[in-house]
Amino acid sequence: MFPEYRPRRLRRNETLRAMIRETSISAANLIYPLFVQVGKNIHDEISSMPGVYRQSVDQLVKEAEECLELGVKNVILFGLPAKKDAVGSGAHAKDGIIQQAIRELKSKVPELIVTTDVCLCEYTDHGHCGVIINNDIDNDATLEILAKTALSHARAGADMVAPSDMMDGRVAEIRATLDEENFPNIPIMSYAVKYASALYGPFRDAADGAPQFGDRRGYQMDPANSREAFREASLDLEEGADILMVKPAGAYLDIISKLRDEYDLPIAAYQVSGEYAMIKAGGANGWIDEEKVMAETLLSIRRAGADIILTYFAKDMARYLKKVS
Ligand code: PBG
Ligand code: ZN
Repeated sequence: MFPEYRPRRLRRNETLRAMIRETSISAANLIYPLFVQVGKNIHDEISSMPGVYRQSVDQLVKEAEECLELGVKNVILFGLPAKKDAVGSGAHAKDGIIQQAIRELKSKVPELIVTTDVCLCEYTDHGHCGVIINNDIDNDATLEILAKTALSHARAGADMVAPSDMMDGRVAEIRATLDEENFPNIPIMSYAVKYASALYGPFRDAADGAPQFGDRRGYQMDPANSREAFREASLDLEEGADILMVKPAGAYLDIISKLRDEYDLPIAAYQVSGEYAMIKAGGANGWIDEEKVMAETLLSIRRAGADIILTYFAKDMARYLKKVS
């Protein structure tokens, strides 16, 4: 009790503060999302995501090299195919945009760990994450296509696959397919707890993946639900997930924290496009200090219990960590 105990004693200078600091973050914890597009010499900035680009494979390699130099050794790929169809065939095409990008990255920058987002929404003309049968997103018919997609990524050389579709049973299906086809060592980072969030807005511009009708509330989770997150996470765990992801991150720190307490698998959190855009906009207007808010939000996601953070700030954060160390 005061005056015997005075918390301020250990806050008197930076060395003392650093000595008792409970949470740390390093570039090794970060995964940087990359958007790859068909074509050559394309490097288009996404207007709602300053500093993030849609780029062709040749340009992608340059950014991948830049990532490595900064110590960001993990990326996740999203693809923008040349054409879309009802069943998302482009997602598992042997020469699809992602498959080309993986092969090029793994040959030019082999140390980089390449994870792929496994979903159909960027490849379907209707923009949903699954195939449509009788006006409904058909869960079971989608599973096989997702597994084919994950397999085609593994065959192209992907280091890890990350299904983001939220169909029931997809982790088991993907695991079984990868194992049958001799990829027992490719981990699955499951978007286990993915909410139907308005914070994905800028991403849908970036990846051109907005649903053409309806919304995703029939498969993504209701933001009001917390207990359901355990059911989703335990299903994915039983089905063979290696990493459990919560998405978005900042508005769902309670969920990250609860999963951390409940499970011993690594936990990932996705600081999504809307979270990035808000910080960028506030910074650009001079309303907040962008760099400090970036560092504080990422630290808070770690403090909540995430081991891994997927963030569009990965490169900026790596630079910042070098500067303050
Ligand atoms: C596709 C997918 C989305 C994101 C990652 N994978 C969009 C969505 O579900 O609508 C969002 C990423 C972001 O907003 O940064 N299934
Ligand atoms: Zn999707």
